[in-house]
Amino acid sequence: MATLPNLPADMRTPAYVLDAAKLAANMATAARIRREAGCKVLLATKAWAMPAAFPLMRDHLDGTTASGEYEARMGAKEFGKEVHVYAPAYGPGEVERLTDIAQHIYFNSPEQIVRHLPVLAKKPDVKTGIRINPGYSNATLGGHLYDPCAPFSRFGTTTADLDAVPWEHVHILHAHSLCESLHEGSVGLIEHVARNFAPYVRCVKAVNFGGGHFINKPGYDLGKLITAVKAFRAEFDVDVILEPGAGLVVDTGYLVATVIGIHRNEKDIAILDTSASCHMPDVLEVPYRPPLLGAGEANEFAHSYILGGKTCMTGDVIGEYSFKAPLKPGDRLVFGDMMQYSFVKNTTFNGTPLPDLAILDADGSYRVIRTFGYEEFRRRLG
Ligand SMILES: Cc1ncc(COP(=O)(O)O)c(C=O)c1O
Repeated sequence: MATLPNLPADMRTPAYVLDAAKLAANMATAARIRREAGCKVLLATKAWAMPAAFPLMRDHLDGTTASGEYEARMGAKEFGKEVHVYAPAYGPGEVERLTDIAQHIYFNSPEQIVRHLPVLAKKPDVKTGIRINPGYSNATLGGHLYDPCAPFSRFGTTTADLDAVPWEHVHILHAHSLCESLHEGSVGLIEHVARNFAPYVRCVKAVNFGGGHFINKPGYDLGKLITAVKAFRAEFDVDVILEPGAGLVVDTGYLVATVIGIHRNEKDIAILDTSASCHMPDVLEVPYRPPLLGAGEANEFAHSYILGGKTCMTGDVIGEYSFKAPLKPGDRLVFGDMMQYSFVKNTTFNGTPLPDLAILDADGSYRVIRTFGYEEFRRRLG
């Protein structure tokens, strides 16, 4: 059972807490990949972005990759290194604005590239990328929901259209098809692209193998990734880029909540000041069951509870867990592995307050970096 972090007894909840010591360990993995494989590693800010913690990451990464204009702006302003951006399509004026912010802009299709070539021609320093659909599936969660190469996926140019790409204008080939994949997925994708797309790889200067590389997950064999990247670079004489999000922050923080009520309907139910729907949407979407530090599976210990949020959504349930002692209002619960795809996806549905954002520094000190109030909820309602 995972040990509880040392958090202040009087901290406000709910709160997302980044554990800086754990982040440092994950950054060492990124640093090793860059050093030994000779490739670039970017942070995909869609998965996790906490600008106050960027100083803890900046030296270990090459920059950030964005899903559109706002993330790109944040990457440029707050991270301050290379900015890459990909979106399946860009809105009016977006590419023009992006050329002032990002040095690498990726397009989804020949149609998108050709449409934006006149804007790109004005900024010769901006490198153009094309996302391909490599037809390689290794997403380990969510079935088709998180598989970029699922049938009829809108992501990336399929083999049928690759010859329509204006390759003379393309600098980077991009292939993102993993999700929480171990080394088999990373190596499988790299070898798949080498085997099936060699003529196109020979048209470009760099290949970006996307995200989904779960590089800090126990069981991920970094040596195998490093060997595959080196072999690819040697075969094609191209730069290689990886852009993990989740893999950089997996298991580096918590969502700390408080029990605010106890209910009974055949089973015991604890109502928390957090919510699956508002604060941990992937629990419902994927779906998955977050680890709860110090607690067991249902019926493992004497006292089992269904844990739910206080929104009106019947399905706002985190799961059933068991405890050595009965729960009571005021008890604190610490969910683990709560950094990726958590607060970046928050909502204020039902007027639910947003959790604080905090950092547990490596020296053990706890600092709240942002609190939210009624205004966050009110302002978005017009
Ligand atoms: C193009 C692209 N790059 C990188 C990522 C980051 O993936 P992950 O957080 O699974 O590593 C994603 C996730 O959807 C993505 O779509």
